[in-house]
Amino acid sequence: MNKIICKSRQEAARVGALIIARQIWDKPDSVLGLATGGTPVGMYAILAEMYRAGDLDFSRVTTFNLDEYYPISRENEQSYDYFMWKNLFSHINIDKSRVNLPDGGAADPLAACAEYERKIKAAGGIDLQLLGIGHNGHIAFNEPAQELSLRTGVITLTEQTIKANARFFASDEDVPKKAVSMGIGSILQARKILMLAFGEDKAPAVKKMFSGAVTTQCPATMLALHPDVTAVLDEASASML
Ligand code: F6R
Repeated sequence: MNKIICKSRQEAARVGALIIARQIWDKPDSVLGLATGGTPVGMYAILAEMYRAGDLDFSRVTTFNLDEYYPISRENEQSYDYFMWKNLFSHINIDKSRVNLPDGGAADPLAACAEYERKIKAAGGIDLQLLGIGHNGHIAFNEPAQELSLRTGVITLTEQTIKANARFFASDEDVPKKAVSMGIGSILQARKILMLAFGEDKAPAVKKMFSGAVTTQCPATMLALHPDVTAVLDEASASML
């Protein structure tokens, strides 16, 4: 796993944006795997800025997001769908038909998960997958457990994750208790992985990720199995390395 340690999260966001930009410059019809949460917001703003400046063209880019709450409607302001349009898609020239997120409103979620996997395959697989890391080492919504799912599936969120996400909702009770998430296998199949982690509170999870051991109790350690992972960290999140 490569790591780039930056002075600040602003600098790290810029480095992350340049890695994504380079992917699009090299391959204008790239398939990007995208993430939500607080971590990528600054980087998405920089990508939007690069688009406005005429430096980036998203018209041929296809995106697949890692996860979505379940159940939730796309119109719900807390949905990841809403988040992606607010923070990135509305500000760039992405073709709506090339935007994909797991369907948080599917009547048959398992069939929808299988269809999501099929769509990723049909798009040619993910060229560059963006990830954040949870305090408990989760990636996407693959929570620490005895077993991890290989493929996109329905996940029951842990209390810790519900609490961490409650900041976006009116109360803990309003946070959906389940999510649809890409599995560890779906993530590891991406050709390249870009992990962003910022802040002192992420330092213990980042330390575990780089520990050299692989354990389902810290899903991010699975990234050690991938040949092309770059972690872009600020000094605070790298402080325990
Ligand atoms: C979001 C996702 C999550 C977050 C993680 C970190 O799509 O898959 O794994 O990346 O929970 O969240 P933040 O960035 O809010 O600290």
